[in-house]
Amino acid sequence: MSNNNIKVSASILSADFLNLGNDIQKIEKAGANSLHLDVMDNHLAPSLSFGPPIIKPVRSLTKLPLDAHLMIDAPWMFFDAYINCGVEEICFHIEAYDKNPVNHADITSESRVATNVDYAKLENDIYYLKTNGIKPGITINPNTNYDVLLPILNQVDSVLVMSVHPGFSGQSFIVSSTKKVNNIRNSFSGDIKVDGGVNNKNAKLLTGAGATTLISASYLFSAPDYKAAIDSLR
Ligand code: DX5
Ligand code: ZN
Repeated sequence: MSNNNIKVSASILSADFLNLGNDIQKIEKAGANSLHLDVMDNHLAPSLSFGPPIIKPVRSLTKLPLDAHLMIDAPWMFFDAYINCGVEEICFHIEAYDKNPVNHADITSESRVATNVDYAKLENDIYYLKTNGIKPGITINPNTNYDVLLPILNQVDSVLVMSVHPGFSGQSFIVSSTKKVNNIRNSFSGDIKVDGGVNNKNAKLLTGAGATTLISASYLFSAPDYKAAIDSLR
């Protein structure tokens, strides 16, 4: 039985970039609730994707809510650029607020971890987004413990749980993410999104654990029938 309270967000990272407009119109028609836009900087994530030059035309093409997932360092320097694109939500990483210096060799390791968070800066930035009409979402990497989120959970609209290491679509789901979703749900009543390796086999476990938005790139865009694939996640 499908659950219409569960939102499905389509990550365009696995769309056909030579036919992006067409893919977006198809996925909108198939019933996706929002579009997820994976922005990467070759730094917080070991890959480079796209930014405002792609997001602006996407904004003019679709009425779907846009969620910019900023896998970038120093996200605060770029908030205005994404606000100006007309996105509704900005999800950014708690790992970008870690006070420990970043070793460049770590960029290509599993993924960054937050242990020593600059909460004053983080709270200031959450407030900045809200005052600009943006829903702030705090994002957490697989190897960061969920308890670093606790001091700011009452300030954000959503938590985005990364269930793969940031960088690429098509990776395998990290099973321990389900328990992390459940731990966060015990302290948070807002939207919990899961991103990475989501498919029809783990969707029910994730929503059972408290996830309310399932993000998918490869499972959705490789499906022969987008509507059936979206429905299979709900
Ligand atoms: C990973 C991105 C994800 C990715 C999901 O760095 O944040 O949004 O596109 O891709 P799939 O669903 O294929 O794992
Ligand atoms: Zn993402």
